[in-house]
Amino acid sequence: MPKITIDGIEAEFETGESILQVADRIGIEIPRFCYHKDLRWAGNCRMCQVEVEKMPKLAISCATVAADGMVVYTKSPKVVKAVRGVLEFLLLNHPIDCPICDQAGECFLQDYYMRYGLYDSRIPLNDKVKKRKVLRLGDMIVLDTERCVLCSRCVRFCEDVTGSNEFGFSNRGNRTEIGTFYDAVVDNPYAGNLVDICPVGAITSKDFRFKCRVWFLNTTPSVCPTCSTGCNIYVESKNGLVQRLRPRYNADVNKSWICDKGRMSYKLINDEGRLYQALEKSGSGFQEISYESAVEKGAQKLKDIASKYGNDKILAIASPKGTNEDLYLFKKFFSEVIRTPHISLGETDGVNNASVMEDKVLRRIDPNPNTVGAGLIGIKADDGKMTPERVADIINKNGIKALYLMSPEILRDGATSQPLRDALKNVDAIIVHSMFVPLSDMPAQIVFPSASYAEADGTFTNYAGRVQKIKSAIKRKESVKSHSEIFQDMINKLGGDGKKLSAPAIFNELAGVVSAFSSIKFSDIGDTGVQLKL
Ligand code: SF4
Ligand code: SF4
Ligand code: FES
Repeated sequence: MPKITIDGIEAEFETGESILQVADRIGIEIPRFCYHKDLRWAGNCRMCQVEVEKMPKLAISCATVAADGMVVYTKSPKVVKAVRGVLEFLLLNHPIDCPICDQAGECFLQDYYMRYGLYDSRIPLNDKVKKRKVLRLGDMIVLDTERCVLCSRCVRFCEDVTGSNEFGFSNRGNRTEIGTFYDAVVDNPYAGNLVDICPVGAITSKDFRFKCRVWFLNTTPSVCPTCSTGCNIYVESKNGLVQRLRPRYNADVNKSWICDKGRMSYKLINDEGRLYQALEKSGSGFQEISYESAVEKGAQKLKDIASKYGNDKILAIASPKGTNEDLYLFKKFFSEVIRTPHISLGETDGVNNASVMEDKVLRRIDPNPNTVGAGLIGIKADDGKMTPERVADIINKNGIKALYLMSPEILRDGATSQPLRDALKNVDAIIVHSMFVPLSDMPAQIVFPSASYAEADGTFTNYAGRVQKIKSAIKRKESVKSHSEIFQDMINKLGGDGKKLSAPAIFNELAGVVSAFSSIKFSDIGDTGVQLKL
């Protein structure tokens, strides 16, 4: 293989790799504004200049292809002088508003200036060219044109990734300005990524702006639960509240991007309507009961109905929003402990289209993160989607007397469905897991407060069969439980071995039983997941 030497370190490279790409791979940092690993090379900012032996002038490392035997210096006096020159040039007209800029703490310009800057300005502050500020371009982004370093990342993202072509430069010289034509809104479904790719504070997030300084955030790697793509994300929180979601790089799933719907989905976790206490039906509403009492009463109801009418009079509907571990314990509980044949999967809109690429970028029709995992574990919806009418049909045909739901969706969607309302009149026990306070007339006897994906550990299997880990990012209230915990407690209440297993232990038990997962252990699932052979 061909070799290159960068700052005295010899490295092999693939034909076509640029000097900067090889340097990144071996841990040598070269400053850059315009280069982004998931965008086409532009070579327009000149920040990444390096000295290459036998080349008469400095070269831009992002767009200079590595050649066998090349000897490169990234921090020689000539390089440092050039980088300082570029910074001085960029900062001639940059507003020095770092104290009030939302990008502070994650701004390339701030960081590079601290490393390479000429700390005394040679231009009087009053001579700076002023450009337009605080342009609200749609729901996701705010543009401060005078902070722009003209790197063109936003232009290339909208040209090549979304194909929506919103951004462009106008004017010449130090009047050059980034913007959209007539300040048109940027309403492509991936606009939030522009905030991540803008290396300075020119494009900031309408939602996150001025919420908190980024160095106060706790960052947890996880997976977006909003569709079956399973984009890798960071969940960032402060004081027990999720403040923002950011994409986490995974070359095989989402590269550097996430969609806006997924990005904003964190609001549900902080929603004021969250349910934090178990409930029992009381008259025309609900009364709060302890979690232990809910387990006791729920288990007793199922036991009574099984002995009075038969095990097959219980219908259990799982949620494809649950983790593999949740769904495995759901299956274990209803197949092995309750022993009912009526086990199904709810909320599976779009599962029939799971093999169709709905959006050339990331988004998929199936709004659930784990439909494939549920199927592999053996929980399937009969007809693609479990509608309220279909549930009513199953209840009527089989004389169902107890309904157990891992999510209240069916009841919510069926609130106006007369067939479901009629069928539920014959059902003696309805037990539901819910993240939100139910309406007082919801037909349920016991409601368990369930944890969000940001408050639980486990794994999802995405549409392509990739198993990826989620990790608890915020501490949940003591009375809120993950689906897995509720099923473990129900199993134990009805005669289980009393074990309370962690997510890794449940996964390893699952892998021993479900053949599709048999080749992997929890410890094999790295930060970017493991691909199952489907
Ligand atoms: S707005 Fe940001 S991403 Fe776009 S050209 Fe300016 S600095 Fe680059
Ligand atoms: S494409 Fe799907 S998984 Fe990815 S961020 Fe959007 S909703 Fe989440
Ligand atoms: S990063 Fe190389 S020219 Fe901009």
